[in-house]
Order: sequence, then C-alpha cells, then structure tokens
Amino acid sequence: MSAAIAPSPADPMLPAPWRVRAVRRETADVATLDLVPLEGDAPRFAPGQFNMLYAFGIGEVPVSVSGDPADPTRFVHTVRAVGAVSTAIVAAAPGSVLGLRGPFGSAWPVDAAEGHDLLIVAGGLGLAPLRPAIYQVLAGSERFGRIAVLYGGRGPAELLFRDELAAWGARADVTVAVTVDHSDPSWHGHVGVVPALIKKMDFDPSNTMALLCGPEVMLRFTATALRGAGVAADHIFLSMERNMKCAIGLCGHCQFGADFVCKDGPVLPYDRIAARLAVREI
Ligand SMILES: Cc1cc2nc3c(=O)[nH]c(=O)nc-3n(C[C@H](O)[C@H](O)[C@H](O)COP(=O)(O)OP(=O)(O)OC[C@H]3O[C@@H](n4cnc5c(N)ncnc54)[C@H](O)[C@@H]3O)c2cc1C
Ligand code: FES
Repeated sequence: MSAAIAPSPADPMLPAPWRVRAVRRETADVATLDLVPLEGDAPRFAPGQFNMLYAFGIGEVPVSVSGDPADPTRFVHTVRAVGAVSTAIVAAAPGSVLGLRGPFGSAWPVDAAEGHDLLIVAGGLGLAPLRPAIYQVLAGSERFGRIAVLYGGRGPAELLFRDELAAWGARADVTVAVTVDHSDPSWHGHVGVVPALIKKMDFDPSNTMALLCGPEVMLRFTATALRGAGVAADHIFLSMERNMKCAIGLCGHCQFGADFVCKDGPVLPYDRIAARLAVREI
C-alpha cells in the first residue's frame, strides 16, 4: 500500500496561510481552488490525502486534495458548497487567503495496484479525491493491467471534470464510462447507477484492485457488486467521510468503529470495514 505522507512536524493544529491563486467553477455549487503557500513550498501529498481548510472567522473543514501529486507548486481542492464553511471556501476570490493544515490521512494504494487490473469508481464529488490517483496511474499506465474509470453523477450538469474525462477516454490505455441517474436532452450517454457499469467492464476479478469514492450508499452497492463479480474484499479500497475537528487522532469526532477516519483513513480496505458499513448509524 502507498505510504501516507505525514504533515509538517510544526504544530499540526496550526493552519498556515495559503493564497487562492485561481478558482474554476465546475458546476452550480462546486468550485476548484488552486492554493499556494504564502511562505515556503507546498508539502508533498499522496493521492487520497486531505487537508483541513479554514475560512477565517467561519470554521475549518476536511477537504481531499484533487490535484496532481507530481505538481509540487500548489494544492488543488474541489469543494461543494453545502454549509457555512464550504460555502465560504467556494466563494473565496482569487487573491484571498485561507488557512490550511495537512496533508493528513491514508492514501490510495496506487503502488500496490501495479500489475493488477484497476477499477477506479467514483460517484458525484467522489471523483475529486480519486483524481490524484488517476493522474498518478495514467502517468505510468504501463505498470498496470487494464485500467477503467467509472463515474456516476446525478445528472449531466452535476458531472465534474468533463473535459478531462473526455481526454482520458480518448486514450488507448484507459476505459472511461460515465453514467447519470437522470438524463436531460443534452445527454446521449449511459443512464443508471454506477455499480451497473461494472458488468460492462472487461477485467480479471482474481487480479483486480478497486478504488471507490462517493456517497456511502454508492460505496455499499459498488463494493457488493465487486464482491459479486469475484473481486477480493482486501482488494477493494474506499474513502470514508466523517465529521472532523482535530484531524490528527485526538478528539474522536471522526470515530468509525475501531478506526479514526482522520488517521486510519480516509482510505480503508473493504474487508476491514464491511460489517460497519452495513450499519447506518455508525
Ligand atoms: C476526509 C474527507 C474528505 C473530504 N473531501 C471533500 C472534498 O474533496 N470536497 C468537498 O466538497 N467536501 C469534502 N468533504 C466533506 C466536507 O468536509 C464537508 O462538506 C464539510 O465539512 C461541510 O462543512 P460545512 O460547514 O460547509 O457544512 P455543515 O453545516 O457542517 O454541513 C452541511 C451538510 O453537510 C453534511 N456534512 C458535514 N460534514 C460532512 C462530512 N465530513 N461528510 C459528509 N457530510 C458532511 C452535514 O450533515 C450537513 O447535511 C470531505 C470530508 C472528509 C471527512
Ligand atoms: S478528527 Fe479528531 S480524532 Fe479524527
């Protein structure tokens, strides 16, 4: 499994100031922000890790890194406005400053997936935490077997990174399949839920790794479909979300059974969490 990269040894609870260099509007309520440090270099991160982003005077929330791990100049984050803090982050103008601490958490097992067929399955905003893994995999695709990116959104207007999906889909070394729950006249693609795409893929279940990120109900159904297709439970990895405060394993806010999602996760193997994932209250 890829080793996670630890946050700076300086106080991990202290946000550093980062400038918003650019903002791209992705959908009606989602924006991608490029952040550069006011001082020093951007720390390295591993695909799957997250930062705590602080909107001054409002609050701090966990947000996965969505940029290219090979680019050491910035952190890229893709955020949906759902409440006070995320709305303030999505509204941040170029030139403004946010607090940032991290990176935290575990990583997608990209290195361990070498030599395997690889299914990367995202639902909704879940494509953002998977995008760094996709960049890394596609930069060395010859090290993997068949590679597929399966992506589902509520509707065409909610799909993220459509230009990149098209560019990836045009490559010979990756299959991209996109589906929407609800179509509109602009959509000529697949309609249905993302686990239904798994049946259409050509992969060797005895030698497949799967990386999953999206709403919890999508994770449950996708993991069940993969198990049904014969993929081993310890070859399926999911990124979990829980409310967080400290992000360093101290406060217990993110506890998920025996695991702290901030420290043991967010990327966790399905065999470790399958029983807990079936219990909605956890
Ligand atoms: C490891 C991790 C990575 C994340 N990565 C991203 C990302 O890349 N992009 C992104 O937009 N968001 C991401 N989130 C979710 C993000 O942290 C929440 O949307 C944010 O905390 C909401 O805060 P708020 O103050 O804006 O809204 P609040 O007022 O706190 O909440 C608004 C709504 O969002 C729900 N909510 C709040 N926090 C979470 C959470 N952690 N998980 C699920 N639902 C939540 C609440 O139940 C409520 O319905 C991530 C969360 C975690 C734990
Ligand atoms: S957020 Fe404090 S223990 Fe995980």
